Amino acid sequence: MKVIITLLLAALGILPAPVSYEMADGVTRATEVEVVEGKRAFSKWSASLPAFARKEAYRITVTPKRIRIEANTPEGVYRARTTLTQLEQPYHCGVIIDYPRFAWRGAMLDISRHFRDKDFILRQIDALSEVKLNVLHLHLTDAAGWRMEIKSHPELTEKAAWRVGDTWKEWGEQGSRYEGSYGGFLSQADAREIVAYAAERHMTVIPEVEMPGHSRETVYAVPGVGCTPDSDDLCPGKESTFTLLEEILDEVMDLFPSEYIHIGGDEAGKRDWSECPDCRRRMQEEGLANVDELQSYLVRRIERYLNAHGRKLIGWDEILEGGLSPNATVMSWRGTDGGLQAIREGHDAIMTPGNRCYLDKAQDAPVLEPEAFGGYLPLDSVYVYDPAAGIPADALEHLLGVQGNLWHEMIPEPSHTEYMLYPRIFAIAEIGWSPLSAKDPEDFRERAAALAAGLRERGYHTFKLEEEVGERPERNVVLEHLGIGAGVTYATPWHKSYPAGRASALVDGLQGGWSFGGNWQGFLSDVDVTLDLGAVRPVHYVTATFLAHPSAGIYQPARVRIDISTDGEHFTTVSDLLGQNPDGLYVPYGAPVGRDARYIRYRATRTREWLFTDEIQVY
Ligand code: ACM
Ligand code: ZN
Repeated sequence: MKVIITLLLAALGILPAPVSYEMADGVTRATEVEVVEGKRAFSKWSASLPAFARKEAYRITVTPKRIRIEANTPEGVYRARTTLTQLEQPYHCGVIIDYPRFAWRGAMLDISRHFRDKDFILRQIDALSEVKLNVLHLHLTDAAGWRMEIKSHPELTEKAAWRVGDTWKEWGEQGSRYEGSYGGFLSQADAREIVAYAAERHMTVIPEVEMPGHSRETVYAVPGVGCTPDSDDLCPGKESTFTLLEEILDEVMDLFPSEYIHIGGDEAGKRDWSECPDCRRRMQEEGLANVDELQSYLVRRIERYLNAHGRKLIGWDEILEGGLSPNATVMSWRGTDGGLQAIREGHDAIMTPGNRCYLDKAQDAPVLEPEAFGGYLPLDSVYVYDPAAGIPADALEHLLGVQGNLWHEMIPEPSHTEYMLYPRIFAIAEIGWSPLSAKDPEDFRERAAALAAGLRERGYHTFKLEEEVGERPERNVVLEHLGIGAGVTYATPWHKSYPAGRASALVDGLQGGWSFGGNWQGFLSDVDVTLDLGAVRPVHYVTATFLAHPSAGIYQPARVRIDISTDGEHFTTVSDLLGQNPDGLYVPYGAPVGRDARYIRYRATRTREWLFTDEIQVY
C-alpha cells in the first residue's frame, strides 16, 4: 500500500502529505459531502493520538455513492475540507486518514520593517491556511516602525508608524528619522478583522511586541522609557517602562485572544544599561549580577503580568540568557541550541533556526535574485529540516512545532513578500504536518510547484520552481591546479566561525556555494596567506574568488596583491590590483605570473568587516 500512496500523492497534489491514503477502484458519483463530527468509532481510533493531533485529525472515506468526513472537532472537519479542495473531482474512491505531527505550524511576517496592510494579510491567511498552517505570527513593532494602534498611547503610531526613506539602506544610513511619510499601521478594527478571518480558517494570530531590544521607535515616541532619549532599548530600571508595557499589553491581549503573546526579547544591545542610574539601582535592589539578569528581570515581570491575565509568554532564544522565566516558551532562531536547552530544562520550544527557516534568504542564485538577507536557502534545504532532531523521545512533548520567518528589511514590495513565502512556506507546512516517514523530496517538489502555479493563477506572485537555477555550479566541481595540497602559512588567521577546511581550505580544490560558510573561509581581517608549492615550478596564473554579501557585512576586497618567490625570502610583486568590482557578488581576483616560483603570497585588504574566499588557484 505504501508504494501506491507515494506514487499517487504527486498526482493528487495534496500538500501537506497526509498520514495515509488507501486508494480503491473507481470514482464517486456523490457530490454532497457528509460530515460526521465526533463519531464514536473515529474518536476511539484517534484516542491514542496526543490531544493536539486528535483535535485536527480527520478521515475521508470516498465510495461510489458517498463522500464522508469524520472528525472529532470542527477544526478536524475544516482540515478535511481543505484536503478535498486539493483533490481532483470527481473524487477517487479510497480512505484518507490524517493528523498533524506538530501542534504549532507557523509563518511569521515582519510588518515593522515594511508595513503590510490588512487586505494583504488576509490574502496571505487564505494561502497559508490552505496548507494547514495554523499560526500567523505578526512582528508588529521594531525600530523601523510601530504598526499597531494603541488607544492609550496614540503617540506610538502618530510618531513611529511613519519614517523617512522607503528602503532599508536609506533607513539604515539616515538613522531614526520617524517624521517622514513612508509607513502605516493596523487599526484596532483591522486587527480584530484579521483575528476573526484567521479564526474562521482555524489559524491563530500571535502578536509580537518587541521588548526590551529593537525598541528605538518606542523610546522615540514615548518619553521616559529609554535610559536616554537615544537608546535603542527600553530601560528596565524605570517603572514608567513597565507601566507603558502593561498598558500596551492590556490592549494587545484584548485584540488578540491567542494563548501566547510574543514579547521578542532578541538582540537587546543593553548598551546603556550599565551606565544608567535607574538600571544600576534596579540591579542593586534586585540583586542582579549583570545586564543579562536585568533583561531576565524584565521578562519575568512581563511573564507574571501575562500569566495573571491567563496568557503565556513566548520569546526568542535570548530570553534564556540570565535565566529563563518559569513558564516561558522559547522560539529558537540562533540555530537549535536554544530550543534544545529550553526543552532540557522542561520548557516548551518552537524551532525556527535561521539556516532552515529564515525565508529572507535568497531562494536561488543570488546573482539573479532580488537583494536578500544573509545567504542562500532553496526549497530543498528548508524541506530537509527535521525539528525533532536531537530531542530525546521522552522530551518531544515539549517541542511545539516549527515556523518559517520572513523578516522584511530587504522586502519593500508586497509582491516580493509573496515571492519569498511561496513555495518555501509549503516546506514548513509539510514539516509541521506530515509524518517523517512521508519525506520524499522529489514528490514534495512536484506538489509544491503545482500548488505555487495554482496560487499564480489566483494572482499571487510566487517564485517559479520550474525556473530554479540551483546551487552555484562551482561548488560541484573539484578543481585541479598546481596549488592543490600546498603548505599554507596564514599571517592572518581564518575566523573560528568560518574555518571551511581549515589549513587546507584554500588548496583543497573545493569551492564555495552561493552562501558564505561551507567551503568559503571567512576572515574578520585582511587576508595574508603564503602557499608553498614544495618545489620551484613554472607558474602562469594565480587567482582567488571573493564573495560579497553586504547585508551580512561581507564585502569585496579593496585591494589584492600577489607576490612570488623562489626561496621564500625574496618576493617579487606580480600584481597589485585595486578592488575591481565592489558591487559584484562572486568576483575572481587573478593575474598572469609567467615566471618560476615556489612561494605565492596572496594578500587581500578589507573594505570593511568580513572577507570570504574559497580557493587560491595556481596554474
Ligand atoms: C531575530 O531574528 N532577531 C529573532
Ligand atoms: Zn536604564
